[in-house]
Amino acid sequence: MRTKLIYNMYPLRRNRRLRSSEVIRSLIRETIISPNDFLVPLFVVEGKSIKEEITSMPNYYRFSLDLLASEVKELWAMGLKSVLLFVKVPDNLKDNVGSEALNPKGLMQRAIKTVKDSCPEMLVMTDVALDPYSSFGHDGIISEGKIINDDTNGVLAEMSLSHAMAGADFVAPSDMMDGRIFEIRSLLEDEGFHDTGIMSYSAKYASAFYGPFRDALDSAPVDQQNIPKDKKTYQMDFANRDEAIKETLMDIQEGADIVMVKPGLSYLDIVRDVRNAVDVPVAVYQVSGEYAMLKAAAEKGWLDHDAVMMEQLVSIKRAGAHIIASYFSKDVVKLIS
Ligand code: PBG
Repeated sequence: MRTKLIYNMYPLRRNRRLRSSEVIRSLIRETIISPNDFLVPLFVVEGKSIKEEITSMPNYYRFSLDLLASEVKELWAMGLKSVLLFVKVPDNLKDNVGSEALNPKGLMQRAIKTVKDSCPEMLVMTDVALDPYSSFGHDGIISEGKIINDDTNGVLAEMSLSHAMAGADFVAPSDMMDGRIFEIRSLLEDEGFHDTGIMSYSAKYASAFYGPFRDALDSAPVDQQNIPKDKKTYQMDFANRDEAIKETLMDIQEGADIVMVKPGLSYLDIVRDVRNAVDVPVAVYQVSGEYAMLKAAAEKGWLDHDAVMMEQLVSIKRAGAHIIASYFSKDVVKLIS
């Protein structure tokens, strides 16, 4: 006697039919990544003909301006059309208030022009924070052992204006001071930079995954008396979830065009919460420590580099990212093209 088939249950419904070949899997795939998804972080140094590998970030480099020009042309040819610039500032130019950040002929300002001259259509975003310029390695001005919020905002706004004047399309404040988006937007509007966008690092956690980045820029907080050893009074506590929504909604109210969650992989619950809560594009920063972990495991032969890289990047997009800032951008585009 045959069992009666009950509608919409096994065996009428077998989910494995939709997994039976790569063709059917690709036909129904929900998340596809393409070069359009990626924002490429670039590290810039003074000097000539410099392309130096960052020790804790294998196959990732700091470029002097001449080689930055060729790098962005290469990126553009690969279909990578957006960059996020960071500069490594010589120690003798660092101080407590980040004066060098406002120098119209500073390294960042020249880097922006270099990218625009060599590849005019490349979208240029710039890091806005004091840490690469700070003699203490903090994102804000320090007084009596504390990071001073409102004075720092003044510098961040001037810094953003200076980047906009040099030709940046978007400024990307990564400092987590309160109210900085409002201060930056107000100054850009007052000065006529209506089209300069703001990508806010709105939910940025105090994370140990930033280690290799601080090596790359020599920007770690200094080990000195009366200087905070970490960034926990401004970056978020990684135990918090609801707070990410509060931070993000406030930044949008203040004028952020794009919001960000950072780091990536350990924070995908936050990415989905933010994506569901906002009506602006969401960026995710897959940070230096995430890059370093996979490179190290692959070097040891313990993980399949390309397979794990794809899985991680697709997961970030699946979680809700419209934009992925990643040191794997070139690797992944080579793999998928
Ligand atoms: C600094 C800044 C950091 C990163 C981007 N901007 C480090 C920090 O906050 O200490 C981290 C990026 C990475 O780890 O890849 N404002």
